[in-house]
Formats: sequence, structure tokens, C-alpha cells
Amino acid sequence: MVTGNLVSLRPASYSDATVPKESLSPEPSAEAEAVRVCIMGSTGSIGRSTMDVVHSLRPKYRVTGLCAARRWRELAAQAAEARPSAVAIAQPTHAEALRPLLNGSTELLVGPEGLVELAGRPDSDFVVAAIVGAAGLPSTIAAVRAGKRVGLANKEALVVAGSILIPLARHSGACLLPIDSEHSAIFQSMTAGRPSEVKRILLTASGGPFRTWSGPEIAQATVEDALRHPTWKMGPKITIDSATMMNKALEIIEARWLFGLPVESIEVLVHPESIIHSMVEFCDGSVIAQLGTPDMRTPIQYSLTYPNRVSGCATRLDFATIRRLNFEPPDLERFPALRLGYEVARAGGTAGAVFNAANEAAVEAFLSRRIPFGRIVQLIEEVLGRHTVSPSPDLDELLEADAWARREVMECMKD
Ligand SMILES: NC(=O)c1ccc[n+]([C@@H]2O[C@H](COP(=O)([O-])OP(=O)(O)OC[C@H]3O[C@@H](n4cnc5c(N)ncnc54)[C@H](OP(=O)(O)O)[C@@H]3O)[C@@H](O)[C@H]2O)c1
Repeated sequence: MVTGNLVSLRPASYSDATVPKESLSPEPSAEAEAVRVCIMGSTGSIGRSTMDVVHSLRPKYRVTGLCAARRWRELAAQAAEARPSAVAIAQPTHAEALRPLLNGSTELLVGPEGLVELAGRPDSDFVVAAIVGAAGLPSTIAAVRAGKRVGLANKEALVVAGSILIPLARHSGACLLPIDSEHSAIFQSMTAGRPSEVKRILLTASGGPFRTWSGPEIAQATVEDALRHPTWKMGPKITIDSATMMNKALEIIEARWLFGLPVESIEVLVHPESIIHSMVEFCDGSVIAQLGTPDMRTPIQYSLTYPNRVSGCATRLDFATIRRLNFEPPDLERFPALRLGYEVARAGGTAGAVFNAANEAAVEAFLSRRIPFGRIVQLIEEVLGRHTVSPSPDLDELLEADAWARREVMECMKD
């Protein structure tokens, strides 16, 4: 039986949260009272979908902050459309090109410090954390420290530093609302019972493009093969993570932190149609699931409007056309990342930071065609094998572990 607490998340616990319920479900009548949304990683796949959702929710929601790393032209176009009070660009070399394209009332913030400033500014109520990778951690911490409502897509932040972010959210009164479709589904399904009544959660996985491939075929997959996801359209890093099933491994750790669950109660189930986004089984044997077409705008919108539901733009399910839903257990032999994910979730401490950083470095090496697909998870396992887990790290130690793991990947690639 699960006894862990559902920090900052579970609807029942909102009554204790410092954020008053009415501010979670705004019904503003004029733009001046709109929910002010800052989108970190606005030029990416989740960022652009969030722009669509906020656009569809106008005038009750409006964008006040935008940020990107390199795609300054896209950022300028988004700023021209949304007229935010500030934008941030992570890569300082792009600042001078971006500056003249901004409206005079939009402030430009530059570099990693600029991102942190943007995420914590008082002129936003809701921060969407949609930067990819551990690069999103400092701004996610800033938003949580400032007590914002945070729509969390940046799962890597929790994998690296869940032990810092969750207590920080408790302390600041920040609310972490999941955007990852699986965790949004679990969050929604959890409302059917109490935390102590949860028996297990079933994280569904599409199985990625190599679900039916043999081990040797997977090992030799090309970049083009790995980028061809069967059901979801996403950024390149998470698409590769889906192909190795590292994405699901990261999600096990994400769920462990978000829902305060013991690792043993988190199970992965392959469901190729990506219609059931995840499920919760309660002590009486009832299983509650959330279903929908694979469209990230649905969980993004739910995080923004929670606890309200409003009309959404995703295509509706037609069960008569779907006819059947398939399930199979995950194959830990062909997808060893899942086994590693469970081991890392159990180990805790610095293990998550090393696991995530090694993956980021290995995925980058694969995408730039320096290693074959099969080497990604091997490298992660080798680096984990060289690491001695520190059980209660502070943020500096986590960042050191992250940097160490990236260097180790480079060392292992020489072998
Ligand atoms: N895509 C999905 O459907 C999906 C679903 C669930 C969860 N997620 C999670 O959401 C996050 C974003 O995924 P995505 O698919 O949207 O990624 P993406 O398309 O690659 O977009 C990443 C965004 O982060 C920005 N960025 C990259 N490096 C940065 C840095 N060092 N500093 C600041 N900004 C940086 C990018 O800016 P530039 O454009 O300038 O490079 C871009 O705006 C990931 O954590 C992913 O796991 C995604």
C-alpha cells in the first residue's frame, strides 16, 4: 500500500496550500486580471503548444515572459505576437540580433542569469517549465522558490534535483502541476481516492519506434530511424529518449518525486496506441485511467486551468474507430534503460543527476553521429558503474555530479 504524501500536487492537499483556491481557478473578466504566463523554452515543441493553448484561453490568460536558447528569430516572432513584458535568451551571442526586433516595452534578459530572473519575476503567476534537459533546472528552481504555480514539462529537473525541488515547493507554497501526459493522467486519476488507498500506478509507454525490433537491429538503428516516433511529435532529445525508453526511466523517477510514491508501486506498461496516458490502481482493485488523443495541448491546458476544465482544441476520441487497445509488458533485455531507471530511483542521492547527465551527453553524441544507437545506454550504465552515490547531496553536489558524468561519457567514448 502506498503511504507516501503527494506533495504540492494532490487536489486534497490544495486546501492546505498557500495559494488560495480562487487564484487557481481564475474567472477574470478583463485582460488586466488575466493569469500571467511565463513560458520557459517557448520555441520548443512544448513551448509552441503552450503558446497555442494560451492563445485559445485569451483573454483569461496572457503571456508575460518567453525564453529560448538559440532560436532568436522564432523568439522574436513569438514576442511580436504575444507582447510579453520580458524575454530571455540563454545564448548571449544572439542578444544583439534579437534586441532590435523587440517592441520597446519588452525587456531583454540575457544568459543563464537572465533566465533565472525571468522565471522568478513578480509579473507572472504561472511558469511553464519547458526547457529541455538539466539546463532547465536553475529557472525551475527560481520559479518554485518564488512560489509560482509551475507547469512542469522539464522532467529532467526533478530527476536531477527532486530532493531539492519538492521541499522547496513545500516551503515556498509553489504548486507543481505535471505537464508530462503520463503524470497529468496519474494526477487526474488520483482524484478518485486518497493517497493511502493507492495500490500502484501504471505508467503507460508507447514502446517507441523500436518496440518490435530485435536487439541487434536496435543497436544499429540510425538517427532517422530513432527520430521516427510512432505516436507523438516531440523535440529531438525526448524522441531519442523514447526510442531507448530512457524517457520512461526518467518518468519513473519523476513520478516517484511528484507523487511521493515508493519505487515498487510504479509499474511500466507498454500500450502502443498512446490513448491511455496512465492509470492508478486503488486498494479495492479499481483502476482509474485518463484517456485522450496523443496531443500535448490537453495536459498543458489542464495544468493551466486546474482545477477547472475548459473546452480544448485536441481531436476527440472515437472508440468505435479505435476498436481495440493493446498492452504488453516492457522488455528489459532489449530496453535496459528501464532496469537502470528503477535502480537509479532506488539509489536516490546523486544517482539521478549522473543518470540524466550521462543520457544527455550520450544522446547528443548519437544525434551528431559520433556513436551508434546501441552505445547510448551502454555509456550511461558504464558511467553509473563508475559513480559512488552520495546519499544526501546539496545543489552544488548535484551540479558537480552532473558535470562529472558528462566528462565521464567523453572518457568512456575514447575506450
Ligand atoms: N515534446 C513533448 O511532447 C514532451 C512531452 C512530455 C514532456 N516533455 C518534456 O518537455 C521538455 C521540453 O521538450 P521539447 O520536446 O519541447 O524540447 P524542444 O522541442 O527541444 O525544445 C526545447 C526548448 O528549450 C530551449 N533550450 C534548450 N536548451 C536550452 C538552454 N541551455 N537554456 C535555455 N533554453 C534552452 C530551446 O530553445 P531553442 O529553441 O532556442 O533551442 C527550446 O525552446 C523536456 O524536458 C521534455 O522531456 C516534452
